[in-house]
Amino acid sequence: MGERVLVVGGGGREHALAWALRRSPRVEEVVVAPGNAGTAAEPGCRNVDVAADDLDGIVALAGREQVSLVVVGPEDPLVGGLVDRLDAAGVRAFGPSAAAARLEGSKSHCKDFLLRHGIPTAAATTFRDLDAALAHLDTLDAVPVVKASGLAAGKGVIVADTMAEASAALHDILIERRFGAAGEEVLIEERLDGPELSILAFCDGVDFRVMPAAQDHKRLLVGDHGPNTGGMGAFHPSPVADEALIERIGEEVLDPTLQAMRDEHRPYRGVLYAGMMLTAAGPKVIEFNCRFGDPETQVVLPLLDGDLFDILDACVDETLAEIDIRWAPKAAATVVMASAGYPGSAAAAVPITGLDAVGDDRLVFHAGTALVEGRVHTAGGRVLAVTAVRDTLAAAADAAHDGVAKISFAGARHRPDIARATAEVDR
Ligand code: AMP
Ligand code: GLY
Repeated sequence: MGERVLVVGGGGREHALAWALRRSPRVEEVVVAPGNAGTAAEPGCRNVDVAADDLDGIVALAGREQVSLVVVGPEDPLVGGLVDRLDAAGVRAFGPSAAAARLEGSKSHCKDFLLRHGIPTAAATTFRDLDAALAHLDTLDAVPVVKASGLAAGKGVIVADTMAEASAALHDILIERRFGAAGEEVLIEERLDGPELSILAFCDGVDFRVMPAAQDHKRLLVGDHGPNTGGMGAFHPSPVADEALIERIGEEVLDPTLQAMRDEHRPYRGVLYAGMMLTAAGPKVIEFNCRFGDPETQVVLPLLDGDLFDILDACVDETLAEIDIRWAPKAAATVVMASAGYPGSAAAAVPITGLDAVGDDRLVFHAGTALVEGRVHTAGGRVLAVTAVRDTLAAAADAAHDGVAKISFAGARHRPDIARATAEVDR
């Protein structure tokens, strides 16, 4: 009998995780809670209708299904202590403890951590009181970035262009409570400038291994315009990520972070996702996430030339140093298709057609999809993503966009420039 793994979550990231885990010769079945229409159809995968943030339900499910490993996708259950609960129940789980996941759960906590340990980041001050925050604003020469401290589904950061906008954002967050309890505290942060790069690393508490760097497209519209989203697409390789830079980020950010987390008696196990800005003064941390990125995961995992189960297992056992992780020396592009209204409120469910027309040489990872009377329908903001792996980024981008062109649903939107501005350069 092979291993049974439970993947917690129901987005594109979790579909990619389930797909990659199922490819491990050691894994017989992947249970996904709650999953989506894509994981329901994935060979060797089975959905169970338990919500990712139903911590009691997930712990009970892990016991009932006798899984040998739980892989937690989203940040909410991690910050809420799911891994601690599973540990207490004697279930092996991949992901940080609540104490470690606080690096994502509270931006003010993360900022204190970074400053305390001399890890490069933007200067910032935290406030709970509007008058004090406004008084601070008056002392600044440059317009800052305003951030709700808590989890706000990637929407709690306002990059203001004027002081008036910054002060309106402070009012919105602290008084109007636009992000609810996530806005009890705000950060007023120095605005940095430079290209952005996400560095994701597997961590076992002591060692880390960096995954291929993926660059994502956060804005909704072509040319990086419009509102911020969870991510409209991503690609690898990134033109800004050379080996020397990745090594530098390892030395200046990842290594000191793991060391400091050990010193603080909350060793970091799981994926550490460092959102970096490459400034003229060197790479600086914008934020830490405590999980795989979405859609970065859909780009990176198809490049893995090896066994994801072995890697995650080694992270739990603190034996990452003993295993060899290889990646295909190829390019990958992922293009997200979203519903009308995204990133605002989700549109009503509509049927999706053309999924079968996308050939086996591309991957379709579902996110907000559900089966309605046996047919795949939209069920959320980001609906699905098409990933292609090819020898060059230009070819990967063309193949992913070509896959998207075969799929349709009412109100579908995607960015035709994903992975392309860069691919043009390398053509
Ligand atoms: P976050 O949710 O912290 O990743 O922030 C969302 C986006 O806001 C980032 O990807 C950046 O584009 C932008 N951002 C956050 N912090 C800063 C900063 N200090 N300076 C400039 N842009 C920032
Ligand atoms: N793609 C951004 C994130 O996962 O936070």
